[in-house]
Amino acid sequence: MTHPWWHDAVVYQIYPRSFMDSNNDGMGDLPGIISKLDYLAQLGIDVIWLSPVFKSPMDDNGYDISDYEDIAPEFGTLADMDRLIAAAKVRGIRIILDLVVNHSSDEHPWFVSARQSKESPYRDFYIWRQPQADGSPPSDLHSYFGGSMWEFDEPTGEYYLHQFSKKQPDLNWDNPAVPEAVHAMMNRWLDRGVAGFRMDVIDLIGKDVDRGIFAKGPKLHDRLQAMNQATFGQRDALTVGEAWSADTEEAKRYSNPNGNELSMVFQFEHIVIGWDPEHGKWKPRPFNLVELKQVFAKWQTELHGQGWNSLFWNNHDLPRAVSKYGDPGQYRVRSAKMLAIALHLMQGTPYIYQGEELGMTNVQFDAIDDYQDIETRNLFAERVAAGHDASEMMAAIHENSRDNARTPMHWDDSDYAGFSQSQSWLKVNPNYREINAAQCLADPESVFFCYQQLIKLRKANDVIVHGDFELLLPEHEKVFAYLRVDQANTLLVCTNFSAESVSVQLPESLLHKQGDCLISNLEQRTTLDENLTLAPFEAFVIRWEKTPA
Ligand code: GLC
Ligand code: CA
Repeated sequence: MTHPWWHDAVVYQIYPRSFMDSNNDGMGDLPGIISKLDYLAQLGIDVIWLSPVFKSPMDDNGYDISDYEDIAPEFGTLADMDRLIAAAKVRGIRIILDLVVNHSSDEHPWFVSARQSKESPYRDFYIWRQPQADGSPPSDLHSYFGGSMWEFDEPTGEYYLHQFSKKQPDLNWDNPAVPEAVHAMMNRWLDRGVAGFRMDVIDLIGKDVDRGIFAKGPKLHDRLQAMNQATFGQRDALTVGEAWSADTEEAKRYSNPNGNELSMVFQFEHIVIGWDPEHGKWKPRPFNLVELKQVFAKWQTELHGQGWNSLFWNNHDLPRAVSKYGDPGQYRVRSAKMLAIALHLMQGTPYIYQGEELGMTNVQFDAIDDYQDIETRNLFAERVAAGHDASEMMAAIHENSRDNARTPMHWDDSDYAGFSQSQSWLKVNPNYREINAAQCLADPESVFFCYQQLIKLRKANDVIVHGDFELLLPEHEKVFAYLRVDQANTLLVCTNFSAESVSVQLPESLLHKQGDCLISNLEQRTTLDENLTLAPFEAFVIRWEKTPA
């Protein structure tokens, strides 16, 4: 079947400051990434999504950009970037950049000029409003990183809007000069050889501030279509929109097969079902597999043929999957493989976040000061000041802080995990002596080789890429099982999300038939009978070829 190249691609996300430090200043960098390209080629990934490497005061670790067309000195130079693009290409790996254009840094020359005077040609690049009569902010909106969304700016006596930190002023997409500047910048990067963009909080660029609309604003899709036409539309790029607000209908608009918006969405419904409706990630809800399966099944069936989804457990904003959904202890390796198998056999483009392929776990720092993430630090201070219990907040941080994903990559068991030879910007997870890439590469049964095999399977089996999806046992509280079906094959994916042995009753049509086992994390099963008992965290995939009629 002919299809866009990214339908069977697997993306690997790199968080540059935590991936590999080449010059031992404790900070990951571009030459460090280049030195690990052979490792990534061995894993078999097709695309690297590089979290931001642009010039930035690093208030939000680079999601606050002060120059979209230069590299942060701590990460390297433009020449390093060119070398990375070229060295990746030699290995068949494409690079996509993080496009952070809902907001810039307050240190971007646009904002520096905008705040100086109301007459600045850049004033209207941002969103300014008069104080209320008593001097208070225009409205009582709350920013994602704590405090008001409005920041008073002395020189001109007005407030500017920032949905994230006050060092991340929102750009004004109602001003045509903003998309114009953004499109030109995107084209220069495409000309430089990048293969596309991951679009940071892209669902927010259609905002209509005075009507209190932020996500899914009225002009959002027009703006994406205009961006597509002005930039990547004719370039065979991969574009993935981060969209916390997307439901399936919305996702079909973003990723419709006509291709006039984006390649795919990156949505979080399977993540936020684990959060409290009011307190969000700071009050985690117990994991509920039945709900999770419903969400996966809904996205699998509703987008089939009508859109394209990303598949992920992890990114730089989320806790480590093995800690969240698996077992970071006794069954760490087995449950990490189970999670990989459960995810990678679905339809969509899989994303692997650095260290996931090693089964890296959450970290638990005792002191709040050991956390570096602006969200974690601000929200701890804000919520404790508001009367929330500090130890409960610490427990929530241990479970859901973004720093769980951001501790440096574990390359080997030497000091600082082989990431650096000096103290890293964020402490390493102390379990690096057992969990690291060197150990994984030396063990054919490691999590790494499970991911390698899953990537190969996707390329060799069109049914994984395009087959129909059917959820089995929807009410089972411990087992996630589904079929993928096309004209030539039926695949059964069967995974136990619990630390107990469980018996399951699969449909009779699947019993007593000889198939082959595509992948498993325990025994190689090739047939099923009435009494199937799954071991703790067991996962397997059986394929039956249809005999032509
Ligand atoms: C996205 C990024 C996150 C960042 C935020 C603001 O959600 O993934 O890391 O803090 O946008 O740019
Ligand atoms: Ca460095």
